[in-house]
Amino acid sequence: MYVVFEGIDTVGKSTQIARLRERFDDCVLTREPGGTALGKKIRTILLDEGNIHPRSEALLFLADRAEHTERIIRPNLERLILSDRSFISGIAYAHVHEKIAVDMLLQLNRFATDGIFPDTVILFRIDRETLSARLGQKSGDAIEKRGIDYMLEVQKTMGELVDLLDIDHLVVDAADPLETITETIYQHIKERL
Ligand code: TMP
Repeated sequence: MYVVFEGIDTVGKSTQIARLRERFDDCVLTREPGGTALGKKIRTILLDEGNIHPRSEALLFLADRAEHTERIIRPNLERLILSDRSFISGIAYAHVHEKIAVDMLLQLNRFATDGIFPDTVILFRIDRETLSARLGQKSGDAIEKRGIDYMLEVQKTMGELVDLLDIDHLVVDAADPLETITETIYQHIKERL
């Protein structure tokens, strides 16, 4: 089963993945961008450069996704895969950044994933105040430097996408206590295994 953790930066996706790993033996942990050897190189280019044309940027994320699909996702579909991000980030960030049409991005992402989409999505949501406080505590990468309004618009687009595509999902409030969030996600996944 392919489970994806989605949400804008600082919502706590990786913290929850680390906590859930202890509850699920033998799960596959992975991430986009950077889940493969090629992906690690692409990730460095994407997050360190900062001055990449939006279409080039979208295509680099798609190259990472194609590689990730074939090397990590497809071979492990019989196991439990917990992935930090997916095509949902791919569409939402690119759509808000450069207003690339969602239809076009969907087509490109179907190509990159060969139609392999997540079985369920854990969608984290965060309010403006909490986001602002959390961003203040870290030095952002090239994408986080685009600011709070951009990130909240990305968050809104992520929610619209899971509805539009009718993907099974669980909405999680990033401001809830860590243990509550872990338990809710654990139950959601367990019911589907
Ligand atoms: P991370 O910090 O969660 O690893 O994600 C790296 C950054 O890349 C984050 O700001 C979200 C962004 N991103 C995109 O812009 N497009 C994508 O397709 C993906 C997967 C991530």
